[in-house]
Amino acid sequence: MWLLPVLFLLVVQGHFSTCVQRTVRGTAMGTLTVHCTYGRGWESYKKWWCRGYEWDSCKILVKSTGSEQLVKKGRASIQDNHSRRIFTVTLEDLWYDDADTYWCGIEKAGNDLGYKVYVDVDPASGGCCTPGPWSLPSTSRGG
Ligand SMILES: *[C@@H]1O[C@H](CO)[C@@H](O)[C@H](O)[C@H]1NC(C)=O
Repeated sequence: MWLLPVLFLLVVQGHFSTCVQRTVRGTAMGTLTVHCTYGRGWESYKKWWCRGYEWDSCKILVKSTGSEQLVKKGRASIQDNHSRRIFTVTLEDLWYDDADTYWCGIEKAGNDLGYKVYVDVDPASGGCCTPGPWSLPSTSRGG
């Protein structure tokens, strides 16, 4: 089983040093927010947010312009913050089928940089059993 450590090294190499992979939880029907940090020197590069388990074949949902301008595409948005060296990605109207592997990435010559983010979608608090206003017991009736 010596292959596993070797594979792990290959995956980690060339990726962000601060944060290799993690899980982010969102709420169904809510907005998912992911903060991707990066190192000094990458401020003016284009950042992207990609969906798919495989790095090579993931689908880029939204890409920044290299400035701090907010870019929105469909349900996804991306905004870079050069002074904090964080780009923030959001995904609106989250649903269970959005749970997947995503990548925070930086576009550069040669191979892009990127790291994996697992997205999980939780039911809204109370889930399906939260009573809507239409089903609240009418306690004042007849009173
Ligand atoms: C970047 O972060 C700083 C500090 O939180 C904030 O003051 C600034 O408005 C942010 N810039 C953008 C473009 O969001």
